[in-house]
Amino acid sequence: MPSIGTEPQNMDALELLQALAAKTDSFLKQWLDSRHGVPDILMESIQYSLFGPGKRIRPVLALLSCQAVGGHIKQALPAAGALELIHCFSLTHDDLPAMDNDDLRRGRPTNHKVYGETVAILAGDAMNTMAFELLVEKVADPALAASLVGELATATGPAGMIGGQILDICHPRENSNGAQKASLEKLQRIHRMKTGALIAAACRMGALCGGADEQTMRIVDTLGRAIGLAFQIVDDLLDVTATDQQLGKRTGKDARIGKLTYPSFLGVEETRRHLRIQQEIAEKMAKKLGGAANPLALVVQTLANRDR
Ligand code: IPE
Ligand code: IPE
Ligand code: MG
Ligand code: MG
Ligand code: MG
Repeated sequence: MPSIGTEPQNMDALELLQALAAKTDSFLKQWLDSRHGVPDILMESIQYSLFGPGKRIRPVLALLSCQAVGGHIKQALPAAGALELIHCFSLTHDDLPAMDNDDLRRGRPTNHKVYGETVAILAGDAMNTMAFELLVEKVADPALAASLVGELATATGPAGMIGGQILDICHPRENSNGAQKASLEKLQRIHRMKTGALIAAACRMGALCGGADEQTMRIVDTLGRAIGLAFQIVDDLLDVTATDQQLGKRTGKDARIGKLTYPSFLGVEETRRHLRIQQEIAEKMAKKLGGAANPLALVVQTLANRDR
């Protein structure tokens, strides 16, 4: 595992992703070790979700956005940890029988398949609250802590990820009874909320940790929104084009349950065109940030071509 110095400018994308993921994991492990009074079964279930072999994209984006605006990667570690906690809460609940009803995640049985639904629901709830506890405890500057808590709460909440999950779950029903038809507008709204909001927040939170000014925040915001939408477009594409083994989760499911996705609504070719548009916006914004954003630009490039 390569180590991260002060300037991870010369690593290739895979090395960079691995090194930043390892940094986030060790920060989170240390913080979890300092928690007292958590029942064993709950802690086990939390750790099962949190440290599974995922990509840690949201933490990586936060750390590199901090660096891109002139900060040091270390300054964004609490934000990175909090983002992964929220992401794992969202995955644990997303897989439940009442939601997507999945049995495979990150190449292993889903949390509820191992610990049962009750524990999985509560582990998700716990990760949600712990994300905010972590920020309040580990961000020394109270004004920055308050901004980060606000950013994360809005991105997670009813007009963000949770709201997007509702729209995503309700669409097949509303569509089949004719209550609401599919449209590109609705599709983008779902994707920007259920996935894009947290990814945009990752970039914004990282930049806030790095002390970005207002003008820089506007560039980072546009960058994050484009990466966020692109990320769910690729997730939709991979559900059609990849295998269970490659992704470590069930594929071909979106079409079976009638989810509103890019490939189902636009076809694969047109989906790729929409992906390229978001990718170009993200790359252009990363360039605008200058040389310190080179590692971020590298990760942005690899995200569109990811195969897992
Ligand atoms: C999967 O996210 C769910 C979405 C929001 C698209 P990731 O593809 O980041 O999942 P992991 O963390 O790598 O497992
Ligand atoms: C993920 O959407 C949105 C979340 C908030 C977790 P999906 O339901 O498409 O994610 P996967 O494909 O199960 O990872
Ligand atoms: Mg889902
Ligand atoms: Mg799902
Ligand atoms: Mg999916």
